[in-house]
This record gives sequence, structure tokens and C-alpha cells, in this order.
Amino acid sequence: MILVTGGIENVGGAVLEQLIDAGAPLRALERDPARLGELGGKVAVVKGDLSKPETLDAAFAGADSVFSTVEQLLGRRARTFYEWLERHVKVFQ
Ligand SMILES: NC(=O)c1ccc[n+]([C@@H]2O[C@H](COP(=O)([O-])OP(=O)(O)OC[C@H]3O[C@@H](n4cnc5c(N)ncnc54)[C@H](OP(=O)(O)O)[C@@H]3O)[C@@H](O)[C@H]2O)c1
Repeated sequence: MILVTGGIENVGGAVLEQLIDAGAPLRALERDPARLGELGGKVAVVKGDLSKPETLDAAFAGADSVFSTVEQLLGRRARTFYEWLERHVKVFQ
């Protein structure tokens, strides 16, 4: 299963739409799942915040790969996310 972050906005949203159309096994991680709107009805959505590693175990459960550009927006707060990813899943960058 592929976990996609940032699905509400530009890059993550475009990727999420294409993966939905391709029929890929998916989950979207959002801070506010309700904001996904129409896309939210087409994909499993889980609440999470990449700057809060304590929210990630549940959000990433069962994921074997991740598409994310959000961490570039987090600055130094992304370090804990990268450490978490290295321990748990295969990383595509
Ligand atoms: N847009 C472009 O053309 C472009 C081109 C090249 C590179 N990039 C890079 O790609 C990255 C994403 O760009 P973008 O234009 O897609 O950004 P964006 O439109 O600002 O979207 C950011 C997304 O990240 C989510 N997000 C922010 N902080 C989060 C957090 N702590 N936990 C979980 N989700 C969080 C936001 O969700 P919320 O609704 O919860 O805020 C939103 O969905 C940036 O680093 C940008 O520099 C963008």
C-alpha cells in the first residue's frame, strides 16, 4: 500500500489523483481529512501530521512505500520524520 501526503494541494494532489485513476492500493495522510473534499470519497484517508511523529504509527500502519514532498516544507522538523521513515518503510524521494 502506498501512503501519499499533501493530497489537498499541488504536488501531492496531482499524484494522489493519478494513483487513484491507476487503481493503486492507497492511503492519504492529511492533517484535516475533511479538506480532501471529493477526493476523500475515492481513497482511504487517515489523520496525521508529519511534524508530530507520535501521530505516524497509526497513519503509516501497513504502508510499504510513501510518496511525500510535504517534509520539504517542514525544515528542521522533518528530521524526526526521516528517522521514523528509515525505521519503518521503504522511501522514494
Ligand atoms: N507546486 C510546485 O509547482 C512545486 C514544484 C517543485 C517543488 N515543489 C515542492 O513540493 C513541495 C510541496 O509543494 P506544494 O506546492 O504541493 O505545497 P502546498 O500546495 O503548500 O501543499 C502542501 C501540503 O502539505 C500538507 N502539509 C503541510 N504541513 C504538513 C504536516 N505537518 N503534516 C502533514 N501534511 C502537511 C498541506 O496540508 P494542510 O492542508 O494540512 O496544510 C498540503 O496538503 C514543497 O516543498 C515545494 O517546494 C513544488
